[in-house]
Amino acid sequence: MQFIDLVQGITASWLERSADLIRLDVENEANSDWFKDQREVGGVCYVDLFAGNLKGIKEKIPYFKELGLTYLHLMPFFLAPDGENDGGYAVSSYREVDPRLGTMEDLRALAKALHENGIRLVADFVFNHTSDEHLWARKATAGDMTFKQFYYMFDDRKIPDAYEKTLREIFPTERPGSFTFYEEIEQWVWTTFHSFQWDLNYSNPAVFNAMVSEMLFLANQGVDVLRLDAVAFIWKEMGTTCENLPQAHMIIQAFNLACRIAAPSMYFKSEAIVHPDEVIKYIDPGECQLSYNPLLMALLWNCLASKEVRLLRISVGNRYAIPEGTSWVNYVRCHDDIGWTFSDEDAEKLQIHGFYHRKWLNEFYSGEFPGSFARGLLFQENLKTGDARISGQAASLAGLEKALAENDDAAVEMAIDRILMLYTIVFTIGGLPLVYLGDEVGVMNDYSYRKDRAKRDDSRWVHRPNSDAEKLERRTDDETVEGRIFTRFKEIIRIRKSHSVFSGSNPKVVFSDNDHIFAYQRKEGKDTCIVMANFADSMQSFKLAEMHAKSGKDILGGDVVLLDESITLQPYQVRIVNL
Ligand code: GLC
Repeated sequence: MQFIDLVQGITASWLERSADLIRLDVENEANSDWFKDQREVGGVCYVDLFAGNLKGIKEKIPYFKELGLTYLHLMPFFLAPDGENDGGYAVSSYREVDPRLGTMEDLRALAKALHENGIRLVADFVFNHTSDEHLWARKATAGDMTFKQFYYMFDDRKIPDAYEKTLREIFPTERPGSFTFYEEIEQWVWTTFHSFQWDLNYSNPAVFNAMVSEMLFLANQGVDVLRLDAVAFIWKEMGTTCENLPQAHMIIQAFNLACRIAAPSMYFKSEAIVHPDEVIKYIDPGECQLSYNPLLMALLWNCLASKEVRLLRISVGNRYAIPEGTSWVNYVRCHDDIGWTFSDEDAEKLQIHGFYHRKWLNEFYSGEFPGSFARGLLFQENLKTGDARISGQAASLAGLEKALAENDDAAVEMAIDRILMLYTIVFTIGGLPLVYLGDEVGVMNDYSYRKDRAKRDDSRWVHRPNSDAEKLERRTDDETVEGRIFTRFKEIIRIRKSHSVFSGSNPKVVFSDNDHIFAYQRKEGKDTCIVMANFADSMQSFKLAEMHAKSGKDILGGDVVLLDESITLQPYQVRIVNL
């Protein structure tokens, strides 16, 4: 019965798919791994913070093109509770746009306009939970048995206690535990994240069917990529951590199959911010074709703090390979905190103690460590386990905020170099790069969230500022900090797009005799490039290991680099040498 419902739902969605989208499905057949192309560049922003509403986003298309974007992720724009809603990740209806941001019609018009301008639309599929205001949750609250079975609801603490023995707390400071007591119905509800985000019960096939319909509805509005939110948590089993269970993969594969049938050009991007061994398991042409690369992100920041690159080298060396027909989405910052999700086993091989090293990174990026250039904030400090994560804009974490406050011109330059070094790696190492919009003009932390009751307990709002029109205006003035960052951003994007060697994702780590230097080779056909970055705040000389070519031309500086001799890099300098 459930299966027949599913097939009927999928068929109905396909029949509703517009001719325009079917044309995209057909075109995609011939270009199904478009995400490997070096001309692809992504950007991500909040609709309201960046442009007011969906119509405003449409008006920003010329800006996206100026930057060279081909992939635009809009943070959740769905109907959500007023006040606290986890930045839109508590969805009250997958079929309605938050009225403050516009309508579904606006979304369709935006998708069409983006497509006409060569930009794909990426949206969230928040499928682990709904908000407590979703119609299903309201029906469950009213006692409707069909909808009570859409969630995990318990009369007393017996079962929740048994589960909690092995569960991790995700938001320990704001929402300890994984269950919330709803007094009016005298029920404990499973809420992995916030109390107002109710976990869906995928052991009930009706939930899967209902969510397939919601997903295909979004596909039919013109969404090209769905970011699958919180993939790790969708299957629960007593006695386990209820994270990354095999059934979670099966469910995503089943969602993916539904797409292949009824919205064949739509792909998935996995959001699994977990141990790297687990991140990789979601990446497969039959599961998620794209995935955030949280390991690269965290290790770039790790190297910037520690000034040495050994952990990055072994991680890129051993953990970068993913199946054909998939790609990493590489990023420096996003709307979330930085979790230090490197492998403790890898770290141990280098005599780095995972726990104490994370503690140190948190001290460094919260600015407490003597000599730190960073101005970040702790996120979800768990006093029981000693864990914490870091919030902050890239520019503030890289030292720009401190340098400007101290009127230190040399430090400002260094901070700019740090931002550009991290982004240059993300643009060249292999995978689809994603710009957290604002970073291209050095937007810094915004502490005003502390005055907002709905935001003040969540330090991630420090890196979710309103777009500043004047700041953006200054991007064309090279006398300004914004202009200096923007010009270099555009240059590196231009370089990426004009060299096919940056397509695909197969970096080969190149070793050297200097642990401040991170170097890798990219190869495509007859083209080869070596990228070298100095993570130290002092000039470094080094010799590369196993270099067959004798020299090459630095694409950025234009000079010839002798690769078999000692090479020198200024603090935070990157060289991209074409062999
Ligand atoms: C994802 C989102 C994060 C949100 C959480 C719960 O991790 O990126 O912002 O808080 O899911 O939906």
